[in-house]
Amino acid sequence: MHVDTAITSRKSVRRFLDTPIDRATITHILRVANRAPSGSNIQPWKVHVVTGAVKDQLCQRLLNAVDNGQSDAPEYHYYPQNWFEPYLERRRRCGFGLYETLGIGREDKAKRAAQARRNFHFFDAPVALLITMDRRLETGSFMDCGMFIQSVMLAARGQGLHTCPQAAFAWHHALIRDELQLDDTELLLCGISLGYEDTQAPENAFITEREDIEGFVTFH
Ligand SMILES: Cc1cc2nc3c(=O)[nH]c(=O)nc-3n(C[C@H](O)[C@H](O)[C@H](O)COP(=O)(O)O)c2cc1C
Repeated sequence: MHVDTAITSRKSVRRFLDTPIDRATITHILRVANRAPSGSNIQPWKVHVVTGAVKDQLCQRLLNAVDNGQSDAPEYHYYPQNWFEPYLERRRRCGFGLYETLGIGREDKAKRAAQARRNFHFFDAPVALLITMDRRLETGSFMDCGMFIQSVMLAARGQGLHTCPQAAFAWHHALIRDELQLDDTELLLCGISLGYEDTQAPENAFITEREDIEGFVTFH
C-alpha cells in the first residue's frame, strides 16, 4: 500500500466485524508504529492490548459506569473549556454529520447517547488498545504519542485493518486504571479500537470533510 493510500484510506470506523485478529498481526502493527519519532528518541508511549475475557470484563464495567452516569474528572484537557470558531462549527459538523448518516435527528438525545455508548465496547472491535504515557513528562511528549498513535492507525491499514482513536476513555481513567492495574505514573491518553471494518454499516460510510489547504497553509 502506498503511504498516501494508507493515510487517505484511514477513517474512524465505528462498527467492526467480530473477526479475531491474531497476536502476530497486532505485534507487527505495534513494531512498525514503534518506529515513530520522538524528541531525543525517548519513546514515551505505552500500549495496553486488551482482548477476549479481559476486554469483556473491562467493557462491562465501563458500560455500567456510563449507564449509571458515572465518570471521572479527566486527567488532561483534550478540548477547550469554551469553544470558539472555527473549531466549534467544525465540531458540530462532525457530530451532526455522523448522526445524519445514522438517521439520528439532532434533537434525539436518547439515540445520540446510545451511539456515544458504543465507544465503551470499542464499537465491537475484537482488539482494544489503550495508550498511556508517563505523566512526569512534558507537553512535547503528547506530540510524540500523537505520532505514535497515527503510526498505529496507518500500520493497521497496511494489514487491511481499521481503527477508531477514542479520547472517550479519558473520562473513565480511574476505572481503567483499576481494572488493568496501570502504574500510577501512567497517564491514560486514549484508546484505539482495532479490527476489520463492517463495510455494511452506515456509520462507516461517513467520510469527514477537511478544509482546503489554503485555509491553513502560508507559503513564504
Ligand atoms: C485523539 C482522538 C480522540 C478521538 N476520540 C473519539 C472518541 O472518543 N469517539 C469517537 O467516536 N471518535 C473519536 N475520534 C475520532 C474523530 O471524531 C475523527 O478522527 C474525526 O472526526 C475525523 O474523522 P476521521 O477519523 O474519520 O478522518 C477521536 C480522534 C482522535 C484523533
